[in-house]
Amino acid sequence: MKHLIIFGAPGAGKGTQAEKISQQFNLRHLSTGQILREIVDKEILAIMNNGSLVSDDVINQIIKQKIEEDKNSYFVFDGYPRTLKQSKYLDKLIKPEEIILINLIVSSKEVIARLSLRKRNDDTEENIKRRLKIYHKNTKPILDYYKSTNRLYKINGEASVNDVFNRLKDLITN
Ligand code: AP5
Repeated sequence: MKHLIIFGAPGAGKGTQAEKISQQFNLRHLSTGQILREIVDKEILAIMNNGSLVSDDVINQIIKQKIEEDKNSYFVFDGYPRTLKQSKYLDKLIKPEEIILINLIVSSKEVIARLSLRKRNDDTEENIKRRLKIYHKNTKPILDYYKSTNRLYKINGEASVNDVFNRLKDLITN
């Protein structure tokens, strides 16, 4: 088994699939978005509700603590890493060869449609646009980094939840 990063745009289905994968393969699901929402810190919530990213240092410390709490587990990361700095930091916490990144590819049109149906606090039209902009700005260096170390995989995330899950299971078990 490897540690898995489920990567993709806001609304690509990272959380939905990471949860199913964690149950199927007995991995620990770590969602940075979920962890941040549970911290209920005014400053952090303001950043999230503005569609911006919380600082790398804050996020990296959270992840470090979670990994150290549970050294024997394999993790499925959802929403982390989100910057090149976070990607490199994760490689210091876990042996790089034990981590793969799976990019869930979903078009902007589809993610906007999905998030517009959901009613989370940070799912306003303006916020979704900003999250997508930030995602596109940060994505290439991250994908290049995993590609250069032969740890990059991708699947088409535009299908029913179960079909996407089956594609992921095939990839993980092969
Ligand atoms: P986070 O919670 O990670 O939000 P996000 O990346 O914007 O992703 P979402 O949760 O919106 O979407 P998802 O890809 O998980 O899809 P989901 O399964 O939910 O982060 C929130 C904020 O926290 C960030 O903006 C940032 O401020 C901060 N943050 C978090 N991590 C950070 C980090 N590492 N560094 C810095 N800041 C960080 O599905 C979305 C919807 O689509 C749901 O309604 C779902 O039911 C539906 N859906 C899912 N799959 C399908 C399907 N196959 N077909 C149809 N509908 C589907």
